[in-house]
Amino acid sequence: MHRRHLVPGVLAAATVLLAIPASAASFSPGAPGIGDPYYPASGNGGYDVSHYDLRLKYQPKTDLLEGTATLNATAKQDLSRFNLDLGLAVSEVRVNGRLAKFAREGEQELVITPATPLQKGKSLSIVVRYAGKPSEVRIGGYTAWARTPDGGVAAQEPESAAWWFPSNDHPLDKATYDVSVSVPDGHQAISNGVLQSQSSKLGWTRFNWRSNKPQAPYLATLAVGKFDITTDKTASGLPVLNAYSKDLGDNDGAARASIERSTEVTEWLEGVFGPYPFNAVGGYVPNVTSGFALETQTRPFYSPRQFANGANVSVVVHELAHQWYGDSVSVHHWKDIWVNEGFARYSQWLWSEKEGEGTAQELADYVYATRPAEDPFWQVKPGDPGPDKQFDIAVYDRGALAVQALRNEVGDDAFFEILKGWPKKYAYGNAKVSDFVKYAEKVAGKPLAELFDTWLYEPSKPAAPAAAESRIARGLSASPAAKPVQPKSWKKIAETNTIHDH
Ligand code: TRP
Ligand code: ZN
Repeated sequence: MHRRHLVPGVLAAATVLLAIPASAASFSPGAPGIGDPYYPASGNGGYDVSHYDLRLKYQPKTDLLEGTATLNATAKQDLSRFNLDLGLAVSEVRVNGRLAKFAREGEQELVITPATPLQKGKSLSIVVRYAGKPSEVRIGGYTAWARTPDGGVAAQEPESAAWWFPSNDHPLDKATYDVSVSVPDGHQAISNGVLQSQSSKLGWTRFNWRSNKPQAPYLATLAVGKFDITTDKTASGLPVLNAYSKDLGDNDGAARASIERSTEVTEWLEGVFGPYPFNAVGGYVPNVTSGFALETQTRPFYSPRQFANGANVSVVVHELAHQWYGDSVSVHHWKDIWVNEGFARYSQWLWSEKEGEGTAQELADYVYATRPAEDPFWQVKPGDPGPDKQFDIAVYDRGALAVQALRNEVGDDAFFEILKGWPKKYAYGNAKVSDFVKYAEKVAGKPLAELFDTWLYEPSKPAAPAAAESRIARGLSASPAAKPVQPKSWKKIAETNTIHDH
């Protein structure tokens, strides 16, 4: 500041202006989206949430969800108004204790105008009272809420929060969560983290959950139903809690035979990726009819159908690997999905290698050999697949091929140092594909841009020489057998692909 150039009168006038925050000019609305090129309406601009406190009540018979959400946030610009993402009906909004005006825009925008404008840096307490039937909410023609015979479940990607709580719905704005849900006696409410307490009164039981590390809104989950719950502790003292619908029928045994191995899988993954990043471990299987699994934080969601052909530990490996790759280190924008799925898939290959059911190289060779050059698989760019191909099988399998190509290029020592170093460097944050390339180059001490361009961005099957070079670098024969045998783990890994069937 060059104060000495100001005459005293001007200085005084400037001071007065600063003291009156309502000097409207600098206050502007927060953006209705956070700026994600694939999903322009996702998230919002102008503020940052640090904590969600959700106090809810859910009646399975009617699908009525009622609640109050309290958000702790900070204004990141001078705000005249701001948006939250929510599909349910709102009855009241308060900002820092004072009633605020609100309006709906589009399918998911709740536009909040506080009684007085909010200065950049100000702490905000935002209270939203709301109610509605989540199964009736459609956003972009789709619903993230699944009703079950005994309750309901919120678990979807890339969005599910708007069906059950108001949020800044994008992985770029992570926060801690306290989720308290009251359900009729005999039902349970399952959510993320640690079950702090539960109590019953007048026919309703309240479950209080805490997830105490930064969590993206789509990784928050709620399942109401009738569950069998198992609890345990890992060797390192983490609480384990798994929940199985009492209604899993023939899939019950296989579901338990898979998910009860979460402790063992977590310990193995700690050896590969480093310390587990969160306060709890587990998984849950509601009686839904879908086929997918999802890496909801600390407590992945599994559809019963994942276990229709018997136990599948590979899907548990995939979802738990996401706790490091996807949940602790999250995408910057959704185009960066490879930093999640390429590595979650590769972790299944590593598990196969460890179990003696086919090495990662054998699985890579098998993918390469079974996808002819004219297969549209090779047109998908795992490094920027586009919103319609975000979860294409190529993001997973070609994405894992890219990881194997890196391993062959830099050797096992540097490779496993990268696998462990990345979740540490970007813990609880967000990262881009280009951040990974830079990080790998730094650890390996050599340029890797060309390798990643070949495997992540070229819309064609990498020529045999590119594949061969990476094999030769590893002391393998230049080309894999023309028709490699299917690795033993292949079928179980493929069964985790159900998301791609739709
Ligand atoms: N991320 C999930 C997994 O690979 C899969 C997934 C992709 C998904 N899109 C989804 C799950 C939509 C549920 C809904 O583990
Ligand atoms: Zn995944």
